[in-house]
Amino acid sequence: MTSSAPASPATEPIVALLTEARQRTLDLIAPLSDEDLRAQHDALMSPVLWDLGHIAHFEELWLTQNLDGDIRFAEMPGMYNPFEHPRRVRGALVYPSREEAIALMGEIRARVLAKLETVDFSANHPLRRDGYVVRMVLQHEYQHGETILQTLQLKRGEPYRAPRRYAIPAVTRDFALGAMVSFPGGPVDIGTADRGEAYDNERPTHRVSLRPFSIDAAPVRNGEFAAFIDDGGYRRAEFWSDAGRAWLVETGAQAPKHWYRQSGEWHSRIMDRDGAVDPNRPVCHVCYHEADAYARWAGKRLPTEYEWEAAASWDGVTGRSRRFPWGDAPATPARANVDQLTFDTAPVGAYAENVSPLGCYGMIGDVWEWTSSDFHGYPGFDAFPYPEYSEAFFGSEYKVLRGGSWATRPGAIRNTFRNWDYPVRRQIFSGFRCARDD
Ligand SMILES: [Fe+2]
Repeated sequence: MTSSAPASPATEPIVALLTEARQRTLDLIAPLSDEDLRAQHDALMSPVLWDLGHIAHFEELWLTQNLDGDIRFAEMPGMYNPFEHPRRVRGALVYPSREEAIALMGEIRARVLAKLETVDFSANHPLRRDGYVVRMVLQHEYQHGETILQTLQLKRGEPYRAPRRYAIPAVTRDFALGAMVSFPGGPVDIGTADRGEAYDNERPTHRVSLRPFSIDAAPVRNGEFAAFIDDGGYRRAEFWSDAGRAWLVETGAQAPKHWYRQSGEWHSRIMDRDGAVDPNRPVCHVCYHEADAYARWAGKRLPTEYEWEAAASWDGVTGRSRRFPWGDAPATPARANVDQLTFDTAPVGAYAENVSPLGCYGMIGDVWEWTSSDFHGYPGFDAFPYPEYSEAFFGSEYKVLRGGSWATRPGAIRNTFRNWDYPVRRQIFSGFRCARDD
């Protein structure tokens, strides 16, 4: 990716971030054939070519058209508008070739870089102030990288050849199975006032008073989840909600997605790696209903998103919330299992720094964690910059997930970040931890 004009000092870090984000997108798709890029591998996912066009047009919309004028469109016109062309129809659209798609991404990027030369980010403009709109576009590309990885895990034909680059560290901290830590109850600050990076749904900061609760010190692991299965967990109706039982009947599910039995052992396939499940890694690819049933089986429940955030961020000594479990320093692949290139979950205890003040391991990275909370705006919510980002999804249809996964880029996750999805979804890199009242 090159720009003809040299970057000014103010835009240099921004240009470097945009360039890095694009390089990652292109690295992820490099092992794919043209047919792989064009195919709709699963009804839930877009063809990868759709993601690529959508990434480029979203960037064009926000970093050229909307950057210094009125916000004319919240979404781009045409085939890459997600609302006009929902996933179920994206397999039937006519796509450009791989070369054309990559060339288009490059052309738009060149125009964006030229535009950024002239833009004043110090101006008191809500989109440009603190570089918000650039970070929004960056996070959008990061998020579509994770979406593409969901697609690649579901890829038809030969498994995706994952370009692994990060080694998973050795386990240096021990977390006993089922161990919980206690939150004494009381006031905590939830959300953020940040306008440079955070989304509208993370704002405003607000104080809530929590009742005393305990929460698992680590995410539920494969070995624990296998014990639930072996105890008849999927067959015993008493552990499942009505909606969960309906999901069981409809899907016939008997284990997490991608798990299968071989010679009496549970195996799973993650991209091009296939083998016995590691009992010490967080369980992944479970839906909300499976998490909820496991929690009931264990005599526990899922945490609310407030409890989750307090357990990840609240520092009882200083009386303030941390941006990350370890403090305010940014997420890196050394601190947590994030940034895609491990292509797997990691054994619990591998990232010694990834522990919150309360003593919870792995709140950031590895697996998104289901909470019991529906997705709603916080008190005083103000849609920005467009209602289709969050507000259009508020309601009881979606459950909130927290913390990011191994497939989440570090710039797209923080303690206050709220993801949401349907309770039946498990193509996402989703796990959970449990809580209970004290
Ligand atoms: Fe998007």
